[in-house]
Amino acid sequence: MIDLKSTEELGGMRAACAAAARVLRDLCTLVVPGVTTAGLDQAAKGLMLRHGCESACHGYVVNRLTYPGHICVSVNDEVVHGIGSASRVICEGDLVSLDVVVRREGFIGDNARTVLVGGVAPAARRLCQDTERALLAGIAAARAGNRVGDISSAIQSVLTPGGYGIVRDFVGHGVGRKMHEEPQIPNFGKAGSGPKLLSGMTLAIEPMVNLGTHKIVMASDGWTARTADGKPSAHFEHTVLVTEEGPEILTLP
Ligand code: MF3
Ligand code: CO
Repeated sequence: MIDLKSTEELGGMRAACAAAARVLRDLCTLVVPGVTTAGLDQAAKGLMLRHGCESACHGYVVNRLTYPGHICVSVNDEVVHGIGSASRVICEGDLVSLDVVVRREGFIGDNARTVLVGGVAPAARRLCQDTERALLAGIAAARAGNRVGDISSAIQSVLTPGGYGIVRDFVGHGVGRKMHEEPQIPNFGKAGSGPKLLSGMTLAIEPMVNLGTHKIVMASDGWTARTADGKPSAHFEHTVLVTEEGPEILTLP
């Protein structure tokens, strides 16, 4: 069952998503050479306080493992769920993926983006541009009457010409009072397949795209996913509301 949010619940979702977007916006300005990923995590904690929300990642449990960070910060070949570290210093040329998931008055807002630090290799720059373009194409397909597969297919169509590796082991998802609700939203698939989209669904659409292979390996911390070939990865995400009038991006500041 895919949850349809009531008008009242949508008020809560709008507020949570706006807060998530403000935190991510402010955090992106702090991604400069010399900052550590632990420093970004601590800054995010402060920004969440300022914007009236708290981390939904901190204390999140998967497979009996508790997530220690306040955001996910994944550098270069790290795909998702990287944990801030005091020994990881950001350098010119890095790709830094920031995933900000907040809770405000019981509702979750989820958004992510990859930041380029200074001059980045052209192929990695293209990867980021194309991943963001794929997200926007996926969002455009999130219309009432369409199906989940239409979102998946729209994302895949943007990425296929570039020969990228589309990550399969992580997918987009419904979002609401819980971070992960039905449906799962793969970033590849067949148009016209899957559950029907209805007005009132709130969806986190999030292509994770690798410059090389789609395959990932898990780090020994149990959380950090990195590319199997060591090539860079990008991640863009918005929380979107399906309406009769079309998709509405909720994670705007
Ligand atoms: N946006 C990520 C996701 O949907 C956030 C995960 S938070 C963590 O999976 F706690 F699981 F790391
Ligand atoms: Co998400």
